[in-house]
Amino acid sequence: MPTLPEANTLPDATTLPEAVWCQLLLDARTHNGWLDRPVDDSLLQRLYELVRMGPTSSNCQPLRLVFVKSPAAKLRLRPTLSAGNVEKTMQAPVTAIVAYDTAFYAQMAKLAPHRPGAGQALGAMEPEARRRMALLSATLQGGYVILAARGLGLDCGPMGGFNAEQVDAEFFPEGTWKSIFLLNLGHGDPAELYPRAPRLDFDEACRIV
Ligand SMILES: Cc1cc2nc3c(=O)[nH]c(=O)nc-3n(C[C@H](O)[C@H](O)[C@H](O)COP(=O)(O)O)c2cc1C
Repeated sequence: MPTLPEANTLPDATTLPEAVWCQLLLDARTHNGWLDRPVDDSLLQRLYELVRMGPTSSNCQPLRLVFVKSPAAKLRLRPTLSAGNVEKTMQAPVTAIVAYDTAFYAQMAKLAPHRPGAGQALGAMEPEARRRMALLSATLQGGYVILAARGLGLDCGPMGGFNAEQVDAEFFPEGTWKSIFLLNLGHGDPAELYPRAPRLDFDEACRIV
């Protein structure tokens, strides 16, 4: 059942078609089971090309993605997962490690040519403040990954239930990339969906001041 509000409650001039809202948010679900349909590497490249255009602080683009796809790489991920996340993650065609680069500022000469010295200024920042800056923008970029994947026709299954230190040691031994969350990607099995949980109403979650 579409959960779209009455069409006339949507602004009519510049809004996307209703079907797009349904695909991105209103009918899109978090998936727990995966159909045996592969995800081509070219689709993952297209995904990143979309994601990278989303906004980040000072255009610093701290997001780093590792697409865990091969059975051997999936086995490296397996021991880091919470028990409830093992089966679905092994089944998913792709599991993205959504991570941030603590050394993101090394790229600023490319990313902010309009601000010479930006990289040096960020490099001189207090490390914890700089880490939080990277975490904030990379987490936002992780949200863009979910929406872009849905827009490309993929289903998503985000997960926080994993041991980040273990993932970082296994996949990022050089020590500068840090995992934020895991994201199963593929074509979801509707039979494995949980019931849709309620959402907060506007008055519970928002204030207009
Ligand atoms: C950051 C984050 C972490 C999550 N961690 C887990 C997890 O470890 N295991 C799991 O089964 N679902 C996890 N979920 C899925 C949420 O429970 C799910 O997205 C939420 O209940 C909404 O479900 P819906 O999109 O089907 O409405 C996580 C979702 C997010 C965004």
